[in-house]
Amino acid sequence: MEYQILSNKWRPQDFNQIVGHKYIIRIIKNSLDLKRIHQSWLFSGIHGVGKTTIARILAKSLNCNQGITSKPCRKCNNCISIEKGKFLDFIELDAASRTRIEDIKAILDSTKYPPIQGRFKIYLIDEIHMLSKNSFNALLKILEEPPKYIKFILATTYLKKIPNTIISRCLHIYLPRITSKVISDYLNEKLKKEKIYVNKETLNIIAWHARGSIRNAINTLELIICSTKDKTVDIKTINNLIGIFDKKNTLQLAESIISNNINKTLNILDYAEQTSIQYSNILKSLITFFHNLSIVKINSLKKEYKINKFSQYDIKIYNLSKKILFKDIQNYCKILIQGSKYLKYAPDPRIGIEIIFFQIYQYIQEKNNIL
Ligand SMILES: Nc1ncnc2c1ncn2[C@@H]1O[C@H](COP(=O)(O)OP(=O)(O)O)[C@@H](O)[C@H]1O
Ligand SMILES: [Mg+2]
Ligand SMILES: [Zn+2]
Repeated sequence: MEYQILSNKWRPQDFNQIVGHKYIIRIIKNSLDLKRIHQSWLFSGIHGVGKTTIARILAKSLNCNQGITSKPCRKCNNCISIEKGKFLDFIELDAASRTRIEDIKAILDSTKYPPIQGRFKIYLIDEIHMLSKNSFNALLKILEEPPKYIKFILATTYLKKIPNTIISRCLHIYLPRITSKVISDYLNEKLKKEKIYVNKETLNIIAWHARGSIRNAINTLELIICSTKDKTVDIKTINNLIGIFDKKNTLQLAESIISNNINKTLNILDYAEQTSIQYSNILKSLITFFHNLSIVKINSLKKEYKINKFSQYDIKIYNLSKKILFKDIQNYCKILIQGSKYLKYAPDPRIGIEIIFFQIYQYIQEKNNIL
């Protein structure tokens, strides 16, 4: 059989396979079952959270031969041809390559003709924020009152660029980032079916690194699977491949910062430079670590907090939390987050990250009245 990339192979074909977005999916399903269907929909959210996927399922739901339904049958001609991308009345357009007013006029012209195959003629216009001002204006009128047989589904990764007049004419659905826990569980389940073994810790790292996008997670996974011929993947491979800083190194770096040992901090950076780790990822790992440390500090004040249940790593974090004030952790985070924002302005990333660490160093020195 022809090889299919995982993100396409795993693309959900009905609403029940969509991960996350529980309440949103319920709203969409109810609106279909109650036949309260808006003429124009707008999906917003970062890439890889399901905008195109949901739009395609919606197109099936509206055109299934069994009637408008939240559970398209996936067996009738209409469902099948939508899944194959061959349905004549489902028109997918990429606004990024059709920004001109002439392009949009051509699309609007074609709305005069009723559907050939289905109940509705559906236009999915992706990356809608790329349209020019004139194109948006041309769209406005039709979005408000399209012919009964037309439905518009707009999608964007950049809501701020969409005029309010467009947003207000659509049923706007925002798809938030998917939590890393949900992504990790999702990958786990999928891999079991593929009979590929990736340990839980690795999956957690992939999920964390995906920053809320399932597509990101699947792409990283694909890279990792290709890195080995046997069907098991270890944590070292993934750290090298994604270029991220692992738990042990992050802990060491945090320890060097908290103990104000700037030479050790710089040595750890030297080590990182020899691998494929990116400095921006070191900052991300460190911010996440300090956030985690804050939580440990808050929890350790609770009466029921029991250290003996923890792993060696947890105990190290707990001990570290005893050496630092909550207020100081927050100040480190502030410096790290602000520093990450300005990293791109540094002459090179290494200098940028060193300057950030110097700032924390200076903060501690001043606190101790040394500088
Ligand atoms: N919510 C989700 N549930 C399950 N899989 C998803 C979800 N979002 C994205 N995916 C996976 O990622 C791929 C890309 O998703 P897509 O819908 O094209 O993202 P978007 O249009 O938001 O950029 C899909 O083929 C699917 O495999
Ligand atoms: Mg898309
Ligand atoms: Zn059907």
